[in-house]
Amino acid sequence: MPYGSDVDNALNKPVTIKTLQKMKTNGEKFVVVALYDAPMAGMAQKCGVEAVLVGDSLGMTVLGYESTIPVTMEQMIYHVEAVARGNRKSLIIGDLPFMTYATSTDALKNATRLMQAGAQMIKIEGGQWLAGTVGMLAERGIPVCAHLGLTPQSVNKFGGFRVQGREPEQAEQIAADAHLLAEAGADLLVLECVPSALAERITREVPIPVIGIGAGRDTDAQVLVINDILGLTEHPPKFSKNFLTEAGDIPGAMKKYVADVKAGVFPDEDHIFL
Ligand code: KIV
Repeated sequence: MPYGSDVDNALNKPVTIKTLQKMKTNGEKFVVVALYDAPMAGMAQKCGVEAVLVGDSLGMTVLGYESTIPVTMEQMIYHVEAVARGNRKSLIIGDLPFMTYATSTDALKNATRLMQAGAQMIKIEGGQWLAGTVGMLAERGIPVCAHLGLTPQSVNKFGGFRVQGREPEQAEQIAADAHLLAEAGADLLVLECVPSALAERITREVPIPVIGIGAGRDTDAQVLVINDILGLTEHPPKFSKNFLTEAGDIPGAMKKYVADVKAGVFPDEDHIFL
């Protein structure tokens, strides 16, 4: 057994956007892990992780940058290919890095490259200005995951990695953007670092599955970065949790994360924003 004898939750068939949509409809939580290599991707499918995100967070978690801004298309393609080699069952989402979708032409060209590397959906950060791009990609058969709230590629505009949507006006803007992007054709939505009540409202109102990170426990799914799950982050964010300490080994940590999300036990009060 390559990953330890207690890995026994394996997905029995490939997960698609239809699977995730059905889970939302049935009120069944699904689990996402941001990861970057073939062995972790293989373990995720054995632990029942429905979707893996090859996030541009790899700039910080793997490549040692201070933000995601320096990440290139070549780096994303390299890691998407590795993840796709390791995992044939979880839905693979790939991030388009900073400024690679600033125009619709760039978005189409770069989304195509990521899909050809093995992604089954691309993720882009931003609100209403992206509605046209989302529609254009959707019409051409490229599934899109939108990302709102704390969008790390805009860290310089935000003046740091801060909770978004605490002021009523900003909360309304995030909710309006969520509706607009869903109507434009986005298939999934990530909400990062927003107050739990706002995430609960958006999850209830939009028809597409919502994945939360630092967005409370009422979203349809949770995503965490593998480095945080395994306690590899020197200064972990409040919303993350080290599952390795309790579980004792890496497969156990991933399984515990999956089980706790599905049971609605994670995130708890210590990992949410009000
Ligand atoms: O890049 C990433 O890993 C992400 C998640 C944290 C949502 O965008």
